[in-house]
Amino acid sequence: MTSQPTLPARRLLLRNARVAPMTTGGTETQLAQIATEGDTITAVGPDVQLEGAETFDCQGRLVTPGLIDCHTHLVYGGDRAREFELRLEGASYEEIAKAGGGILSTVSHTRAASEDALYAQALPRLQAFLAEGVTTLEIKSGYGLDIETELKMLRVARRLGRDHPVTITTTFLGAHALPPEYKDRADDYIDLVAGPMMQAVADEGLADAVDVFCEGIGFTPDQTRRVFAAAKAHNLPVKIHAEQLSNLSGAHLAAAEFQALSADHLEHLDEAGVKAMKAAGTVAVLLPGAFYFLRDTQLPPLDLLRQHDVPMAVATDCNPGSSPMNSLVLAINMACTLFRLTPSEALLGVTRHAAQALGLADRGQIAPGQRADLAVWDLEDPAQLGYRFGINPLWKRIWNGNL
Ligand code: NIG
Ligand code: FE
Repeated sequence: MTSQPTLPARRLLLRNARVAPMTTGGTETQLAQIATEGDTITAVGPDVQLEGAETFDCQGRLVTPGLIDCHTHLVYGGDRAREFELRLEGASYEEIAKAGGGILSTVSHTRAASEDALYAQALPRLQAFLAEGVTTLEIKSGYGLDIETELKMLRVARRLGRDHPVTITTTFLGAHALPPEYKDRADDYIDLVAGPMMQAVADEGLADAVDVFCEGIGFTPDQTRRVFAAAKAHNLPVKIHAEQLSNLSGAHLAAAEFQALSADHLEHLDEAGVKAMKAAGTVAVLLPGAFYFLRDTQLPPLDLLRQHDVPMAVATDCNPGSSPMNSLVLAINMACTLFRLTPSEALLGVTRHAAQALGLADRGQIAPGQRADLAVWDLEDPAQLGYRFGINPLWKRIWNGNL
């Protein structure tokens, strides 16, 4: 997230913008003008004017904050279409992983690819997100599992952010899977991740957060704890892949002991975990694409999350194995159809709550002082955003105050 291209400051007045209220309450919209100066929204309201500004008539179109995808694995080599076939023939995601496929198959492709090749493969994926109004996107490492390749992935992610009108945040996920050279030596691998690997990542300033895949086919709660303790020593906030396939109480650990920014997946989350997340302000990141693509049947505990008022974000989990999805608009649709989120909950999930899941307070809302990252849709009602799929409803996209 560090180096953004510096574009000239500019004053923009969006007229006749239909602005959603951005609460969980409802989808009633208001017509307003939105003034932006440089990279910041300076005023929102029915009578706002801005001297000498470039004026832009939205003609009553829906305007939302620029969308935020807070959980992706966008940079990777190769694909896993053959495993998709195997799963259709009856193999499970876990069986494929245990047989040395899954994440490890992407690791070998990612290790073999040059930095330029990884960049070139990631580019059309990133462009698909930008075309649908995404203005901030998180990218995780985790398909390198050695120092050199983890750094390579994170450098590619940073470079994508420097070259394009989008904010890229990066997350170090060295503890994603056990690399083959550490077979039966998981604790030794964790020594590497929490020690020299994280040190190298921190030295180059390549990560904004640290993540662990806490799972039977990933790492144990104790191993997770060691990685998080190292993250804390480097002043890096943590996130966790937890309770996707089983309940190891990873979300509880991440929230209660490390004030995690977010816990993600959460199909098997229990009430103790929900309460710990509420107490720590940890966001629940829902990943309906992985639920859909793995044909999962265990729903995340949505009613408990609502009851305890835990903020819910929605993300694509864009990755080659469990969610080869490159559309956050489709994730909104899936969050509504599969998880029964209301359209306004889903909209909050890809804006305000997604920003919170990344620890970013300066975006995700249309309000003075927020970043001038906006999406103008060829729609009138927020419910339409999650309703129709297979057509891109974006009309204009504004990042950093620039159309
Ligand atoms: O978020 N759960 C672990 N990691 C990814 C899947 C990665 C893969 O299968 O390549 C996920 O679903
Ligand atoms: Fe993931």
